[in-house]
Amino acid sequence: MVERIKTYIPGFDQHIDGGLVRNSVNLLSGGPGTGKTIFSLQFLYEGILKNNENGLFVSFEEEFDNLIGDAKVFNWDFEKLEKEGKCVFLSCKPLEEPNLQTKMQELIQKYKVKRVVIDSISIFSMMFKDDAYRIRKEFYKLARFLKEQDCTILLTAEISGEAPLDITSGGGSLSRDGIIEFIADTVITLHNSGIGGEGDRAIRVLKMRRTAHTKGPIPMTINEKGMEILG
Ligand SMILES: Nc1ncnc2c1ncn2[C@@H]1O[C@H](COP(=O)(O)OP(=O)(O)OP(=O)(O)O)[C@@H](O)[C@H]1O
Ligand SMILES: [Mg+2]
Repeated sequence: MVERIKTYIPGFDQHIDGGLVRNSVNLLSGGPGTGKTIFSLQFLYEGILKNNENGLFVSFEEEFDNLIGDAKVFNWDFEKLEKEGKCVFLSCKPLEEPNLQTKMQELIQKYKVKRVVIDSISIFSMMFKDDAYRIRKEFYKLARFLKEQDCTILLTAEISGEAPLDITSGGGSLSRDGIIEFIADTVITLHNSGIGGEGDRAIRVLKMRRTAHTKGPIPMTINEKGMEILG
């Protein structure tokens, strides 16, 4: 039996056999403004509210004031969750932060975190100066460490332009380094345009280990309640 962690993105879990695999590392990849941060915040917020699974949001660049303000637009009150000790935000300047794992581990244990978001992982590969061997090694280490924490992980990756529709076609990378998508258990892509005129946006599950998932693009929208699957 594979244990599932619901994303709580309305309509999405039924496309992935009920949810993300517990303790898996999931990559959310997309161009600018495709909804990576919104998906991540919704995943944390609903996980806390609906299933009492505390959250950790790690960022290498975001100002959390902005982020928490952006979330308010969707009525997600992270200030309250932070005060209640249910969600914690960790800002890392990677080059000044050699103890990222130690810091994360402290917070995960202290706050009994079950859902971790790293938005985005792209800076991580820059830390290793785009050295493919080191990126692979360090990312593998990070993924293994996170899995050992009994957390389900969501990583976002920025790509320029639209995500390619087929990971195997050699049509371009799904992350800055083109490596993380092979190590992650899951790759989900977000698209700014709907496919075949259906919906104004789309989401697609390119791979999800241990899961019979929908293969094609799924019409999706972002509205005042956050992200939602159409149809
Ligand atoms: N209230 C809203 N109603 C409809 N769409 C919205 C609303 N708020 C934001 N959006 C859409 O969501 C987009 C931002 O989503 P998000 O910040 O999650 O993108 P992202 O993929 O994280 O982008 P980036 O790569 O720049 O970080 C906006 O560009 C806009 O199109
Ligand atoms: Mg973002």
